[in-house]
Amino acid sequence: MGEAFKAAKVADNVYRVGAIDWDVRNFHGYLTSRGSTYNAFLILADKITLIDTVKAPFFDEMMSRIASVVEPDKIDYIVSNHSEMDHSGCLPQAIAAIGPQKVFASKMGRKALAAHFHMDHQIAAVDDGEVLDLGNMKLSFIETRMCHWPDSMVTYLHDRELLFSQDAFGMHLAGCERFADELGRDVLDYEAAKYYANILMPLSKFIRKTLDKMSSLGVPLNIVAPDHGPIWRTKEDIERIVGCYAHWADRKPTNKAVVVYDTMWQSTTKMARAIGEGLAVGGAKVRLMSMDACHRSDVVTELLDAGALVVGSPTINNNIFPTIADVMMYIKGLKPQNLIAAAFGSYGWSGEAPKHLAEMLNEMHLAVVAEPLRIKYVPDEAGLLACRRLGEDLAARLGEICNGRQ
Ligand code: FEO
Repeated sequence: MGEAFKAAKVADNVYRVGAIDWDVRNFHGYLTSRGSTYNAFLILADKITLIDTVKAPFFDEMMSRIASVVEPDKIDYIVSNHSEMDHSGCLPQAIAAIGPQKVFASKMGRKALAAHFHMDHQIAAVDDGEVLDLGNMKLSFIETRMCHWPDSMVTYLHDRELLFSQDAFGMHLAGCERFADELGRDVLDYEAAKYYANILMPLSKFIRKTLDKMSSLGVPLNIVAPDHGPIWRTKEDIERIVGCYAHWADRKPTNKAVVVYDTMWQSTTKMARAIGEGLAVGGAKVRLMSMDACHRSDVVTELLDAGALVVGSPTINNNIFPTIADVMMYIKGLKPQNLIAAAFGSYGWSGEAPKHLAEMLNEMHLAVVAEPLRIKYVPDEAGLLACRRLGEDLAARLGEICNGRQ
């Protein structure tokens, strides 16, 4: 094993030994503009323990970082907090190379790893709350089902008050900085929100349960080390990210309206701009997002704290435009809540798209508050005024909701 990559100290006898993926841009449909990290952690206790592994192509990088502080075959235990392959992809290789005494996962984790790698006989299932004695240190395993997968658990290192939180509190952000306090607040806030919106938003009720569970356990948190992005080590940062999760999980709408649209001959764009003008005049915050210019994962990030979703599509071959079908399917899967909604679009002769969009919005259990607004071919001044009025009406509804006068 080469010496090119080094372990990074997180706390006394605790190191980050994962990999930095500077290049990844497509994380199953999520645009990871700043790359990512797959964090694995090494605890140099009497029983040397590796927490999680990395995506399969990064096995050599992880092993090099481990070898910079200890011979890999000295590792006694491996803990798999989460079986998704960005954290378990090289687990079979790691087990073969390290030869640990035991590999631990939750009960569901054992099953998931078996289904991925057909290696269940090598995995010991741990119970929720089970304590593992490392000799001079102690770990506790805490189940956090559906945060992110049914197998998810977190591991708490009592002796450092350190939580290895797997996906929770993470973000896709490549970098050599170990700690969040070494990075800019704007980047942290945006990437943490984008991660929550695109990965965890449909699981918000489980996130709420996990936060309540952690709170009831009353474990002090000195360091929170997720499997993606930087580590939180200051009291202020830990309180801030936990507070953000509580806020996002509770999904309280603001007066922000996200207008998502695409166009064939600029008519639906003209409608979107007039609707946006009406929203702004009515007092709403407005984000116009053309799917010719924006990525679906950025739309969902904006929706995380929005109060309205307004979707526009021209009618093409009796149906909605392909880019709008794409973003609607993506939004539907992420189950945004507490949004009012409306649909609009230009058409030539049949004009089904806005009706299809309204049906989709209803199926998503959003509150469709206006009839679909359709304009034949190119909007004239009267058509643009109708669009503007729709925007003003939506802003008024948002204002009522935000002021608690629904
Ligand atoms: Fe980073 Fe759910 O895996």
